[in-house]
Amino acid sequence: MSANETLVLALPKGRILDELEPVLAKADIQPEAAFHDSRSRQLRFATNHPGLDIIRVRSFDVATFVAFGAAHLGVAGNDVIMEFDYPELYAPVDLDIGHCRLAVAEPKALVKDDDPSRWSHIRVATKYPGITRRHFAARGVQAECIKLNGAMELAPKLGLCRRIVDLVSSGKTLAANDLVEVDHIADISSRLIVNRAAFKTRPREVGDWIERFREAGDAV
Ligand code: PRP
Repeated sequence: MSANETLVLALPKGRILDELEPVLAKADIQPEAAFHDSRSRQLRFATNHPGLDIIRVRSFDVATFVAFGAAHLGVAGNDVIMEFDYPELYAPVDLDIGHCRLAVAEPKALVKDDDPSRWSHIRVATKYPGITRRHFAARGVQAECIKLNGAMELAPKLGLCRRIVDLVSSGKTLAANDLVEVDHIADISSRLIVNRAAFKTRPREVGDWIERFREAGDAV
């Protein structure tokens, strides 16, 4: 990580980008035009700041790029931050966007005879095996996790498992798949994440971006 290397900000793809746009604008970060072109295959983008580039990657990969110092800063939900629990990551600013929750859901038909406080073992499909195991271990429940990367909501109907652990925002995806939320694991929002070594070696520049994001998060 050299002192005059361009700083790289890793941003997640997907729905969160709509909420992130005003934060970027308030932080005075204007990506080059291709960033807004959904057909573009470009992955790295210049900004109005010669010392700052943006990369656009999958949400889980934001944490990995930043933890390994390939990107210096990033935006990630605390779901992703908690799942990896990388010691190299520091999350100084809650951007107050991307609000949702991580929850256990199961088919409607199962709910009336089920009591989450009596679970001793559960089998779930999830993108979050780390958080799920830790959360249930703390309650003395053994969680067996089947790792999926998306479309978890299909798993109960197709007999993969009875329950899922997934993000819930509007609740529409659960409802459309006859699932009901039965247990809450964590409230989620998006944070600015920073590579600790980058902050240590370039405190002025990295600190300046942290302050800009803090002000932008407060103003949005
Ligand atoms: C997330 C999540 C749920 C859905 C919840 O998926 O995994 O499937 O959003 O949102 P809702 O409560 O508003 O319906 P996303 O659309 O981000 O895609 P993914 O499955 O590829 O992660």
